Amino acid sequence: MKQNNTVIPMLFTKKLSLSVKMSQGFFRMACARLFPRHGYGFNHMKNLSLVYFKLTPLCNLRCVMCGQWGDNGVMKNGHPAEDSKKLVSLERYKEIVDELAPRKPVIYLWGGEPFLYPDLIPLAKYMVEKGLFVSINTNGTLLEQHAEQIVRDGWSAIFVSLDGFEETNDAMRGKGSYQRVIRGIEAVSREKKKQKRKHPIISIVTVVTNMNYLDIENLAEATRGLNLDLHVFNLGTYTNDSIVAAHRRFMKEKLNTGSDCLEAYNTGYNKNIDGEKLHHILKSLHKKNYGHPILTVPVLNPEKTNTYYANLEEAVRNRCIVPWCQANINYNGDIHFCADYPDYILGNIKESSFTEIYNGDRANLFRKTINACPGGMFPGCLRCYQNMLFGEKIRGF
Ligand SMILES: C[S@@+](CC[C@H](N)C(=O)[O-])C[C@H]1O[C@@H](n2cnc3c(N)ncnc32)[C@H](O)[C@@H]1O
Ligand code: SF4
Repeated sequence: MKQNNTVIPMLFTKKLSLSVKMSQGFFRMACARLFPRHGYGFNHMKNLSLVYFKLTPLCNLRCVMCGQWGDNGVMKNGHPAEDSKKLVSLERYKEIVDELAPRKPVIYLWGGEPFLYPDLIPLAKYMVEKGLFVSINTNGTLLEQHAEQIVRDGWSAIFVSLDGFEETNDAMRGKGSYQRVIRGIEAVSREKKKQKRKHPIISIVTVVTNMNYLDIENLAEATRGLNLDLHVFNLGTYTNDSIVAAHRRFMKEKLNTGSDCLEAYNTGYNKNIDGEKLHHILKSLHKKNYGHPILTVPVLNPEKTNTYYANLEEAVRNRCIVPWCQANINYNGDIHFCADYPDYILGNIKESSFTEIYNGDRANLFRKTINACPGGMFPGCLRCYQNMLFGEKIRGF
């Protein structure tokens, strides 16, 4: 099976200007891994390589497995109308971009659905003008009407979520969503040709669950004509009652914080996946040539595919470096490290600068606490997507 480290260079040698921007980020992540500091007084901004902007909690879909709006999503008991009044203004975001730009972190815009943030277009444009690599993760349903502008404004990468061929995708993400997303991707692709631009890179991201794993090859086949640059298969974030309970206890005791977000991934969509079958499907996907590279996150030893879904207590990655080189800015201005679990707040950009918060006492306490844990991770980190991307591979996996 082709490994991620063999397909990434294939992608970026085609887009040289983007690869330069990306490699700066990778270099700082490597520094953070080699020389992690949790001591007070170190300027962690030096290794800042990736900043997530969760622009809005609102979403126009209700994907079943989603930790925000899915079956078990935290937003379902929330107050979306109230929340949308707390959004960070374009002006404040621009000041934060000015503060971050000299460090050249990769920018990752997401949500909720980021196209529902009213000032997405001017914000992304400003980020591009500041020389940043601007990527976005979107459900793609609102892409078509913005395609011309996105290409003209020079966005770097678009990650569009699609979870299966039409029927399967729509069962997970809502009726009619497949066709809207395909129209959006086609529109961006057409604009790239028309405007003679190489970017944005277009990638599909697929979360693998028990609802779609037998259908992902059909999806891959359907993408052949779409001029994609990449297709990412995310094996998914899952948890169970005992992990949630252990995580809650730990976070209360060590960081004096609640932890409501992990429970949202206690969905059961990992259950009854035939690991051997899935392994063969993934192997076949990686062997075929769809005209674009395929990435799997995380790459697993084939024999461990079943473990990933059936034994959630077994760690597959550890020593995640996110607190040393990344941060997430939540829609209300709160900064936190773990994108999917905004429980432990480091500070708020409506009150302080990004740098003060990132180098502050709460951030350092988090770094110190996670570093002291066995394997450098909290109980709830076991299948976290960021740990799967930025953790260390455990021997045997
Ligand atoms: C929460 S969404 C936000 C952005 C946008 N609304 C979208 O759907 O792309 C971010 C990503 O998380 C993925 N996702 C949803 N539920 C997940 C789960 N249980 N495990 C892993 N990823 C999940 C989505 O498919 C999407 O690619
Ligand atoms: S579109 Fe994204 S945020 Fe909205 S429900 Fe689906 S996965 Fe969640």
